[in-house]
Amino acid sequence: MSGSARVRATVFAPASVGNVAIGFDILGFAVDALGDRVSVARREAPGVEIAAVRGIAGELPREPKDNTAGRALLAMQEALQPGFGFVVEIDKGIPLGSGLGGSAASAVGAVVAANALLPVPAGPLELLKFAMAGEAVASGSRHVDNIAPALYGGLVLTVGIDEPRVKRIPVPAGVRAVIVHPHMFLATAKARAILKRSVELSDFVWQTANLAGFISGCYTDDLDMIRASLEDVVIEPQRQALIPGFQEVRGAAMGAGALGCSISGAGPSMFAWALEASAAAVLAAMRREFEAKGLATDGWVVNLAGAGARVIA
Ligand code: HSE
Repeated sequence: MSGSARVRATVFAPASVGNVAIGFDILGFAVDALGDRVSVARREAPGVEIAAVRGIAGELPREPKDNTAGRALLAMQEALQPGFGFVVEIDKGIPLGSGLGGSAASAVGAVVAANALLPVPAGPLELLKFAMAGEAVASGSRHVDNIAPALYGGLVLTVGIDEPRVKRIPVPAGVRAVIVHPHMFLATAKARAILKRSVELSDFVWQTANLAGFISGCYTDDLDMIRASLEDVVIEPQRQALIPGFQEVRGAAMGAGALGCSISGAGPSMFAWALEASAAAVLAAMRREFEAKGLATDGWVVNLAGAGARVIA
């Protein structure tokens, strides 16, 4: 069916890990193991209606301007003036306040689904900007580190906000991501509000070296460089107190052979990178430490080439 003939589309949009330790607000990777399903149907009257929110986070706002998916679609309507409206249904598969990019997934899912109804679909960079407007509702700021991987898939670097440039970064074969979600809620806005507004010069040097080293290690299959540079010296020291057992979880991951381990997005989920042979041991070690703090967990081992949002019905 062509885009113009569709009256309804359903999209799966994956979860994502933002920051990836060293790329605060600019780097992220898709986690295809879980995601949100967003359906958008055409209606005659312009505007946006949130008809249903189901799944593991049913209490989200129904007022479109206060809802990440709704706000993203309002931005899309304002820019593209399609001449018809959108009715949205959201099935949340990503827990709220988990640090796994749930608000980004709903916003991306909504704009990709709505795009499938347009006679002339918008390009991915336009969709990225619309989804960014939605993400801002949840976290209080426009950032792309979850939006870009949820849209494009894989490990993605985004440079710029108003005129974003998006680069999919290759990942060495055999490297896996381990993700552990402890069952607690942490508001992104809170985890952002505690951050200092300035950075020590020595930390700035270290963090830029780590980002450059990490990206170059990815392009050149240099696991030693990745291991040396996958470390956040700016954000993680400020946020770790928000996550019970952070030090123990990180220590256990590194002890089990991880290449690096840090906070997923704003937390409380944590992620590690590990070679395939040690990924299961890293996952078990991380879960054990969270559970020793009395937190139940979900965990996944995923490859780093997970697909971005796509129409599934
Ligand atoms: N980069 C963001 C942060 C991700 O760490 O605050 C959460 O939306």
